[in-house]
Amino acid sequence: MIIRQKIMRGVSLTAHPKGCAEYTKQQIQWVKEAATGMHASYSTGENLSYPKKVLIIGGSTGYGLATRISASILGKADTINVSFEREPSEKKTATPGWYNNLAFEQEARKMGLKADSILGDAFSHEIKAKTLDLIEKEYGKIDLVVYSLASPLRIDPDTGESYRSVLKTTGATYSAKTIDPFKEQISVAKVGPATEEQITHTVKVMGGEDWTLWMKVLKERDLLAKGCKTVAYSYIGPEVTFPIYREGSIGQAKEHLEATASEIEESLNDIEGTAFVSVNKALVTRASSVIPVVPLYISILYRIMKDKDLHEGCIEQMYRLMTERLYQADGVPVDDAGRIRLDDWEMREDVQTQVKAAWDTIEQENLQQLADLEGFRKEYEQIHGFGCTDIDYSQECDPRVID
Ligand code: NAI
Repeated sequence: MIIRQKIMRGVSLTAHPKGCAEYTKQQIQWVKEAATGMHASYSTGENLSYPKKVLIIGGSTGYGLATRISASILGKADTINVSFEREPSEKKTATPGWYNNLAFEQEARKMGLKADSILGDAFSHEIKAKTLDLIEKEYGKIDLVVYSLASPLRIDPDTGESYRSVLKTTGATYSAKTIDPFKEQISVAKVGPATEEQITHTVKVMGGEDWTLWMKVLKERDLLAKGCKTVAYSYIGPEVTFPIYREGSIGQAKEHLEATASEIEESLNDIEGTAFVSVNKALVTRASSVIPVVPLYISILYRIMKDKDLHEGCIEQMYRLMTERLYQADGVPVDDAGRIRLDDWEMREDVQTQVKAAWDTIEQENLQQLADLEGFRKEYEQIHGFGCTDIDYSQECDPRVID
């Protein structure tokens, strides 16, 4: 079939196998180059004691995939990914993560590394058990667990009850400029308040409960190495997005996730384990593109950070996590609340002053000048395997194979 990108209400319904494979390989290549000193703003990260066996929950796209790639190249780590994917058929494409997993695992094996994916619902007992069995049989003890899930739904494995996360405020209705980056149309988004029940549900899905469960079952089966680390990802962002993000229902979930880190760390005391939350930069991923208001903020941020030569994607961020945060010989640098900050460049005062000025004045007429919509769209295309200059998208392509 001929595979073109089809976007409906900000969600891409298709993914290109060759393009996803290409983008995964580009990220691998970037880490290889950075590790040999080819990217000036990044240290080579030599002589750090990187993990050797890494479990990534949500490791098929975005931040999880970038962590998997960074860990495998820097520390020659064997990696297991757990992710939720739609498989391809003769007439239907898979989700991008399915192609990314395949591409990454092919490359990892060429480097002599073990790499497997367990596909299914990470919240379920069944997938946890399957993952633990694989680790026990084929990998041995894990020394880094990465929790990088972004999901709209969780079915409680004990009660069968479904919880849905919502992207709403926790106070009054919030009106703010937003954009459809594909139509380049500014409009006003009105985001209403979540009910108490919706907030509880969002915390159930995106808070720390399932992270705790993963760590608990891994420890009970004695599958965590002495001195193991675990990390989950959070976001804070600037005041302009506070009502919808940090002070919204998702922000409540992120606060829960952050509080969970210290509880997990306490449970790992006897094996000298540590648990962290890393606050990452706002980036175009499948998860962030559907948050109201955020795509406009990201487009403005991209323009400013690119102008200042500070722009990073998931791979650069996760490379810094490994080389300049989690495995620092003199301890993990954290903020007053104990969080790793990889949003340091995003939150720089000069960057945020310019973001605020652009945010206050942006309108249809000056959109191109103040926002990097092209950059947003390109990245969105890229994460679904489109827009790659080496690929002829008019050619027939089997959606079940990546090369
Ligand atoms: P993403 O959408 O690229 O990746 C989500 C991953 O979760 C995928 O591997 C997907 O297969 C997996 N997944 C979803 N539901 C699942 C389920 N039920 N079972 C198994 N796997 C499942 O998202 P992204 O943006 O990389 O997000 C990862 C984490 O980073 C999230 O916690 C997010 O809040 C956080 N974060 C994201 C930022 C952003 O701007 N994108 C900024 C800072 C933090």
